Amino acid sequence: MAAIDPRLLYLDIPEMDRDHERLVAIANRISALVERPDFRAKDFAAELRELKAYTIEHFAREEAYMASIGYPGLAGHKVQHGKIIEALAALAAEGATKGARIALSLRLFTQVWLFEHISGHDGEYAKFAMAKAPR
Ligand SMILES: [Fe+2]
Ligand SMILES: [Fe+2]
Repeated sequence: MAAIDPRLLYLDIPEMDRDHERLVAIANRISALVERPDFRAKDFAAELRELKAYTIEHFAREEAYMASIGYPGLAGHKVQHGKIIEALAALAAEGATKGARIALSLRLFTQVWLFEHISGHDGEYAKFAMAKAPR
């Protein structure tokens, strides 16, 4: 599967774009890892821990940013973030026992959430920010 180009997901909000770039980098590493013939569940577990930790960190920063601009969709956006964290936690719990199969689910999950969440939900607060204070 092709690596995701983070430039496709730019919101023109530098702090958020930097976070999203790092999330894309982790997702791309997971994608490459799954395709390796010498795939090791141990490497996958480390990437998954990093993805989960960094996602939680990013969501906190993003929610603070949305609050700072008075974004009216904040509550709904937080619900979406909560669902993603729950799904990641479930994958992490399963990953401990099912290695490679979970790695494949995780690859799909990261690609879907990166594209759908960042270009959809995150795109909405970026539009709001732009309308409020055009750059
Ligand atoms: Fe985001
Ligand atoms: Fe978000």
